[in-house]
Amino acid sequence: MNDLYLREILQEYDEIQRVQSRALSLRREEVFSRIPDLAKIHSDIVELMAENSRKAILNPDNTSTLVSELQEQMARLKAKEIELLKENGYPEDYLEMRYRCEICKDTGYTGFPIKEKCSCLVQKLLERTYRLSNIHELEAENFSTFDPMVFPEISLENSRLNQREYMIQLRDRLMDYVDEFPDNQKRTILFTGKTGLGKTFLLNCMAKSIMDKGYTVIRTSAYKLFDQLFYGSISDSPDSLAQKRSLFEVDALIIDDLGTETRRNNYTIEDLFNVINERTLRRSHTFLSTNLNLANLRERYTDRIASRLFDNSNTMIIRFQGADIRLKK
Ligand SMILES: Nc1ncnc2c1ncn2[C@@H]1O[C@H](COP(=O)(O)OP(=O)(O)OP(=O)(O)O)[C@@H](O)[C@H]1O
Ligand SMILES: [Mg+2]
Repeated sequence: MNDLYLREILQEYDEIQRVQSRALSLRREEVFSRIPDLAKIHSDIVELMAENSRKAILNPDNTSTLVSELQEQMARLKAKEIELLKENGYPEDYLEMRYRCEICKDTGYTGFPIKEKCSCLVQKLLERTYRLSNIHELEAENFSTFDPMVFPEISLENSRLNQREYMIQLRDRLMDYVDEFPDNQKRTILFTGKTGLGKTFLLNCMAKSIMDKGYTVIRTSAYKLFDQLFYGSISDSPDSLAQKRSLFEVDALIIDDLGTETRRNNYTIEDLFNVINERTLRRSHTFLSTNLNLANLRERYTDRIASRLFDNSNTMIIRFQGADIRLKK
């Protein structure tokens, strides 16, 4: 992916670290002036570390005993620190560095000696490549903000559940699905149903939870995707190649509003087929939503795409029914 983006993002990570370590120093100053014992523990810890590295240099053969001794002493000091913090009404992690990403500690990389990009960094690169500025939507639309009360209790065709009960059951099913992710048996999910039934909301819920598990997600609309496939087919810029590659490589590809895109030419349909087909073969996850019914889909996207999408062994088709909740609002 584009090096420029990588540089930009790593600068942001540096900035995050700078801000966080400044905040930690301020917390230290505040606490140490109020609780001198804590200042003492802190300087003991610093001294202990320094002494141990001196010993390790002098006795390179004896490092493993040194390490375990160090760990024991550190644990004792840490426990005392926590006790003092709690006694004085502070949270026990008050003197810890706070990270946005616990996995890479905001460095963007994990692993030693071979460094790999952390999933948070990969996700940021994807977002930048996709200009997914609307990622903040996920703060508003996720499983913890899912509100069953927006759905009326009206009865549904072919279901003993009313709309609200149906949506609660669906939410629970999808939460289980995300728990199992990526080892699910079926890896394509197709939401079909009329407008205003909560399809996009639930796609966002899944996107957020999957990203929180450390996997990469691209959320796009069919409209944007077709544009991208179309302009990608007439341009070979590194950017558009990288974007195309990530459509195949991302852990979960989410395509919202299939059927609303402008049809450019047969190539874009063929490209869409390739993306879906290749992802199915790789056993990757693809989630789609559409206002079209299955017959309309077949008509619009040819039998080849439709048969991939409706292949029972890999696809879960979920029907949304009931009253448009946008009207109610
Ligand atoms: N579970 C929910 N909890 C709270 N608000 C919701 C929920 N589901 C949907 N909404 C809200 O209701 C409105 C319509 O939902 P949404 O956009 O998901 O519908 P949709 O099925 O994707 O419609 P369309 O087919 O027109 O895209 C949105 O404003 C959304 O934020
Ligand atoms: Mg929608």
